[in-house]
Amino acid sequence: MSKVATSHKVTVLDLRRMKAENRRITMLTAYDYTMARLVDAAGIDIVLVGDSLGMVVQGRDNTLPVTLDQMIYHTQCVARGLQRAQLVMDMPFMTYHTSAKALENAGRALSEGAAEAVKMEGGEDVAETIYTVTRQGIPVMAHIGLTPQSVHALGGFKVQGRKAERAEQIRRDAVAIEQAGAFSVVLEGMPKELAAEISQALAIPTIGIGAGNGCDGQVLVVNDLLGMDEAFKPRFVKRYANLHETIVEAIRAYAGEVREGIFPDEAHSFHLSTRRKREVA
Ligand code: KIV
Repeated sequence: MSKVATSHKVTVLDLRRMKAENRRITMLTAYDYTMARLVDAAGIDIVLVGDSLGMVVQGRDNTLPVTLDQMIYHTQCVARGLQRAQLVMDMPFMTYHTSAKALENAGRALSEGAAEAVKMEGGEDVAETIYTVTRQGIPVMAHIGLTPQSVHALGGFKVQGRKAERAEQIRRDAVAIEQAGAFSVVLEGMPKELAAEISQALAIPTIGIGAGNGCDGQVLVVNDLLGMDEAFKPRFVKRYANLHETIVEAIRAYAGEVREGIFPDEAHSFHLSTRRKREVA
């Protein structure tokens, strides 16, 4: 079994050390208290309250409608369930489009949401914002390559950097966000060779999703690895369980027993106390 990083709260320093010592970083999303406790119990290093909650929790087509208040609410729920993992909150669409807004909103993520870091999508274009926010003591995780908040500009959720020109832009983005002070970066949806090259070039840890195994760590949406949505089967997700089937089976069994009067049985029922029984009689 591989060793977990620490028994105390994971910090930006632990993550940097893990990269230096060649120990891979594990990261997953969580959106509520119950899942946060499960992910923490399994020893995951970083928990992300991703704006993917727009799709996973709210059933929307993309992440764009998610609000800052919604993110803060879910981050508060997750924070109560974590003892060890570092807690990162995604900054939702249009909440960090100016440095001033970013600072104010990232501040709310930490003070109201109890996040320990925030995540922002973008490279060269958000470098100045990352610089402003990190200078005020707020750790920022960057996110480059396939950036879901730019879904319309990218023409869909498509792998980025297959062609030389776009790959070069992604390399420049990686350097820009590191120089701006980001403590780590998510590399999403890009050729594994490009992600491995960026991971070698940067001093900060890279966390891949759909970016091959040459990154310093990996992240997935927890519902995807648990197989909660039987219809969602992208190439980059590996299912470690089939909870869709397990949950539907369990609920069917419950419904069947209720309809047949089997549940609740004696073991799950209460009785009047002897004294109260006499009073009733
Ligand atoms: O919103 C999210 O869940 C993410 C991860 C998939 C990296 O950004």
